[in-house]
Amino acid sequence: MASIRIAGLTKRFGEVSVLKGLDLMIEDGEFVSFLGPSGCGKSTLLFCISGLEDIDEGSIRFDGREISDLGPRERNIALVFQDYALYPHMTVRENIAFPLRQQKLDEATIGRQVAWAADVLGIEPLLDRLPAALSGGQRQRAAVGRAIVRNPSALLMDEPLSNLDASLRVHMRTEIRRLQKELGMTVIFVTHDQEEAMVLSDRIAVMKDGVVQQFAAPMEIYSHPANRFVAGFIGSPQMNFLPGALCGARGDHVVGVRPHDLKPGVGGDSELSLNGTLVLIEPAGPFQFLDVMIGEQVVRATCTDTAGLTLGEGITLCADRRAVRYFTPDSGLRVDQQPMELESRSHVL
Ligand SMILES: Nc1ncnc2c1ncn2[C@@H]1O[C@H](COP(=O)(O)OP(=O)(O)O)[C@@H](O)[C@H]1O
Ligand SMILES: [Mg+2]
Repeated sequence: MASIRIAGLTKRFGEVSVLKGLDLMIEDGEFVSFLGPSGCGKSTLLFCISGLEDIDEGSIRFDGREISDLGPRERNIALVFQDYALYPHMTVRENIAFPLRQQKLDEATIGRQVAWAADVLGIEPLLDRLPAALSGGQRQRAAVGRAIVRNPSALLMDEPLSNLDASLRVHMRTEIRRLQKELGMTVIFVTHDQEEAMVLSDRIAVMKDGVVQQFAAPMEIYSHPANRFVAGFIGSPQMNFLPGALCGARGDHVVGVRPHDLKPGVGGDSELSLNGTLVLIEPAGPFQFLDVMIGEQVVRATCTDTAGLTLGEGITLCADRRAVRYFTPDSGLRVDQQPMELESRSHVL
């Protein structure tokens, strides 16, 4: 497996820059996700790394070696896509053996490698089946087997779980993580699903419009988002964003607070204290979501006990100092502290 260093990578389609001077250093054996909305350039970046797309500027190094002039075969990268693209007329065994046959390895080596991949993935009983006789998850496992069988420098996966149903998706992501740890693989995993990226990754590169917004560990991104875009993209339900004036903050900074950090309370010495009207209570298992009208805006909060709360009546929501984030109004960059003291800690609208 290899480390991957991307420096100043720019990719254009015609006049349009789709990747705008990206810098990323992915360590050997690291699990990195590229996360962002559809069209932000995740797949294009993956294709540039794998050699399926040429780059216009910058460099890509595997273990320090420049590879941007090499073709896909010479890069020894394995790719897994959303549609698994197994050969329908070949058994699982033959599908997994295929890349080794292309390398013209001898039968004994091929047999050994296929047995190893099947063992790692727990699919030995399926080796003589055709893809049509497999479930979605089994097909996906066979595709991963074919990808890892020739011991690639890195495993690149483009939304590999999107076609699976919800429970299988959760199961497969656990398997992919186990496999990655077991084999010490360098994995790049493309997804638009923030939860998937959070649970799988050592680090996440959050992308928007061909630019990496933040590249850090999941909880670092969750707790200290670099800007308003990242803060809004990570975490579900989404962070609430309020005009500073609405929260009694001086200046025009935007105030951000996650629903899980905003709870009914009595104000007191909370950093943030908002008075509004309770418009919705939504059960969500161990806790409930509350929708509260603050002025013209609906703000989402959580609580564990709805006793004493009545729809249509007034409610005060509070957040601890550590949970409140501030963003500049123009660029949306996060600033560490509220730049000026709150005007009033129990601001009443
Ligand atoms: N072959 C292509 N020719 C022209 N534009 C493309 C091509 N491939 C992708 N794009 C454009 O590049 C942008 C990024 O696409 P893509 O990397 O597929 O995004 P993502 O995988 O994040 O959804 C999109 O605006 C898309 O329309
Ligand atoms: Mg894509």
